[in-house]
Amino acid sequence: MWRTNLKIAALVLGVVGLFTLVANSIPQLESDVPQALDLSGDLSPAALVAAGERIYGGAGGCATCHGLGTRAPNLFSGEGGQGAIGARCGGRKPGMSCKDYLFESLTEPGAFVVPGYQPIMPDLRRTLPADQIWAVVAYLESLGGSVDVVAEDVRAAQATAPPAPPAPPAGGATQSLDPREILAANACVGCHALGGTGGAVGPPFDGIGRRLGPDQIREAILNPAATTSAGYEQMAGVMPATFGQQLTAAQLEALVTFLASQR
Ligand code: HEC
Ligand code: HEC
Repeated sequence: MWRTNLKIAALVLGVVGLFTLVANSIPQLESDVPQALDLSGDLSPAALVAAGERIYGGAGGCATCHGLGTRAPNLFSGEGGQGAIGARCGGRKPGMSCKDYLFESLTEPGAFVVPGYQPIMPDLRRTLPADQIWAVVAYLESLGGSVDVVAEDVRAAQATAPPAPPAPPAGGATQSLDPREILAANACVGCHALGGTGGAVGPPFDGIGRRLGPDQIREAILNPAATTSAGYEQMAGVMPATFGQQLTAAQLEALVTFLASQR
């Protein structure tokens, strides 16, 4: 029993961390990203490591999980005598270099799950641009290993990086009335699945219109504490109660209509 409770506690903490991470990517809510990094000039290993360290402690949200406890592998000290992450990275997957393993860990965390841990590590491409991910790789390499991220890696990432989305106007994560856009901008799909993709923290949106009518959906969004979805009792309290302030009335109605039509 206590084991199950611990697992659930760990999952919930992880999820809250994940939500923080997602919330941090919403421009009004974060404060770290813009001043954290300007990689346009100096791409020396030392500059990359310094930038990566700032992202690790700031916008990356890594310490939420990796900082303490047993939720995630300790990156600074040895895991079972294997050394800090910069030392053990090269031996994780046969034939894969340290650099490639670390980049994969951050961008396709499901590709290799460190034994003994739950697959809760988020895909950082959702929250960090590729050049910042490379800076984090350089920083991780510096923890017990040698840095071989080069300016070329970063420039290639910058060249392929999608253009930054336009800054949303003040007052909300988006002003769009497109329900899918609203769900994405408010991080709903980080916790709820739609069309088979998205989080599994809360009930899937697929088929939700068969279970709940518009009024119940509106209530669930505005006042998540009022009712708890069957089967999700252990997740009660995880859904943020702030959407009433975050969404405009028109956005709320667009969401309610859209969700009620998911049958
Ligand atoms: C929600 C919790 C969570 C967050 C946030 C998170 N991680 Fe992880 N991470 C994990 C867990 C759990 C594992 C082990 C399971 C796995 O391999 O996916 C892991 C694995 C890793 C590994 C592989 C470790 C090894 O020993 O091979 C690296 C590297 C890593 N994370 C780096 C980071 C960095 C850098 C950040 C921030 C930019 C970050 N993680 C954010 C939970 C998290
Ligand atoms: C951090 C995770 C998280 C986020 C973000 C989140 N939810 Fe939820 N949501 C949950 C959980 C967990 C439940 C089930 C527990 C409960 O009822 O409180 C839930 C329940 C719901 C329900 C009731 C579903 C049912 O079948 O009973 C609706 C509707 C809903 N959420 C809509 C949304 C919308 C819309 C957004 C974004 C504006 C959103 N949620 C954002 C975690 C989240």
